[in-house]
Amino acid sequence: MSGTILGISAFYHDSAAVILHNGEILAAAQEERFTRKKHDSGFPLHAIEYVLSESGISFNDLQAVAFYDKPYIKFERLLETYHAFVPRGLKSFISAIPVWIKEKLFMKKLLRDELKKFGDAKIPLLFPEHHLSHAASAFYPSPFDEAAILTIDGVGEWATTTLCHGKNNRIRILEELHFPHSIGLFYSAITYYCGFRVNSGEYKLMGLAPYGDPESDQKKAIKQKILDDLIDIKVDGSILLNMKYLNYATGLRMTKDKKWTKLFGFPPRKPESEITSQYMDLALAVQEILEEIIMKLASRVKERTGCNKLVMAGGVALNSVANGKLLKSGIFDDIWIQPAAGDAGGALGAAYAAWYIWKGMERRNDNLADQMKGVYLGPSFNDRQILLTADQYKAPCHHFRDFNELAKTTAKKIDEGAVIGWFQGRMEYGPRALGNRSILGDARNPEMQKKMNLKIKFREGFRPFAPTVLEEDMEEYFNLNIASPYMLLVIPVNEKRLYPLPDGYHQLTLRDKLYFQRSDIPAITHIDYSARVQSVNQTTNPRYWQVISEFKKLTGCSVVINTSFNIRGEPIVCTPEDAYRCFMRTEMDYLVMGDYMFIKTEQKEIFSKEDIDKFSLD
Ligand SMILES: [Fe+2]
Repeated sequence: MSGTILGISAFYHDSAAVILHNGEILAAAQEERFTRKKHDSGFPLHAIEYVLSESGISFNDLQAVAFYDKPYIKFERLLETYHAFVPRGLKSFISAIPVWIKEKLFMKKLLRDELKKFGDAKIPLLFPEHHLSHAASAFYPSPFDEAAILTIDGVGEWATTTLCHGKNNRIRILEELHFPHSIGLFYSAITYYCGFRVNSGEYKLMGLAPYGDPESDQKKAIKQKILDDLIDIKVDGSILLNMKYLNYATGLRMTKDKKWTKLFGFPPRKPESEITSQYMDLALAVQEILEEIIMKLASRVKERTGCNKLVMAGGVALNSVANGKLLKSGIFDDIWIQPAAGDAGGALGAAYAAWYIWKGMERRNDNLADQMKGVYLGPSFNDRQILLTADQYKAPCHHFRDFNELAKTTAKKIDEGAVIGWFQGRMEYGPRALGNRSILGDARNPEMQKKMNLKIKFREGFRPFAPTVLEEDMEEYFNLNIASPYMLLVIPVNEKRLYPLPDGYHQLTLRDKLYFQRSDIPAITHIDYSARVQSVNQTTNPRYWQVISEFKKLTGCSVVINTSFNIRGEPIVCTPEDAYRCFMRTEMDYLVMGDYMFIKTEQKEIFSKEDIDKFSLD
């Protein structure tokens, strides 16, 4: 029996659409990439249009449309929460409830109306629960027939953490933790208190944590206060939060700032202000607590399922530092994490739940590789389309007939200190750029982290970059013996590459710590000697693999910096035009798109007359 399911996530954050055809993912993309509005939570009109046209399937031929949560249960949660906290939640009740009554409660009608734009057939509309969607996105595309499943996020309907057992085409929910007790929202509350944006600044908090001093009295005191007054962690990993300190259940803010200020002795950090040591220690304390909880939950789900393999999803599964430690702990022999672990991935999970649970289809898994196709599931553009952009902007570019030559030239430019925009094939699904919409640089260059943060990404200098390493060489550089294709694991850099810390290191300022050279690949070695590693192999992404191989031939080094192709506050680029505009707005040196290399007009003097003629279009 054949069939096609359209999966949708929308109206919370990171809207997305996916087409699943006979259990195979044909196309998937987030709405933000088309509308250029970061974390766009609107109805994913453009993403649906794209996935339908990419897969050549007409809306009227769909077997079902699956939405990633159950709006009625979510509404019930809102009502009960406001009831439980009456009258404290009155202000946010007044602002939230009319929106729900108008829009979200009538989700089915709203979705039907929106979907009419694509066709008039009355396709069955399914609503798998939010955490079931996350669990399905973790288990069904994984390489495992059977696995323990752990999903952790802010909140879905009621559930904030779920422990499940997946076997063949079935998922059984074993235990749930319910709102307002939420590991994700607790982490977000600290994110807010440290001056970063909730729902997008959590990465920054994780990146800030290693700047804290694990042995300092300040960090120990902060951690103790959190454990005494804010959170109670049970042996099974479930938590109870002290809602006297948290405002998200009823208010429009995350925390009760006055109470926190009294508890910690320092106020919430103002966004963009200097990051002082107490915020670094707070970030570290909460990261340690998060890791303790995840270890306990992992042990619990192992105990309940008896499985030695684990799959994970939900926004908290993007905490790659905790993931790396979980892998190292050996609680499970093998771990697979859904790369689109946040709510964008809910669209995929909803579609899978429809196919395997609603339809009851058999799972066909060869057990060798996962089903994500490297997450290269978005739009691609051919050389003709790239040339149209060049023409439109009168952009100097050069066509390479031979890709080997382009790979060699790019590798040489990276070795010379250039920063390269690298745009190839299908755009990635999920939050990470994995070599198709990436910015590349030399990981050996001690100036590169600063240059890329300040001149290319326009973002905080402390934020680390991630490396891509050739899969066959990864053990040379990192303490990693399984492939990490999705950049979801933070792993120690191999000891033989490290330089020792100077005396009095922990007394240094953030700036001095940041620019201390810690290894022979300093641009990607984080302050605690770790790196968020992507490994690439020749089969999944031959072009990306080749450019790094050429770099290795030239320099002996199999590692490059890979950061997403965007600037701060913008979604990752989608089209050649997005890429070219981003290239021109930053101090990026070259842009490679398809078989073309673009330069900036002011760079012309570094080329010979003959070269310029080759680059010029007019
Ligand atoms: Fe979620």
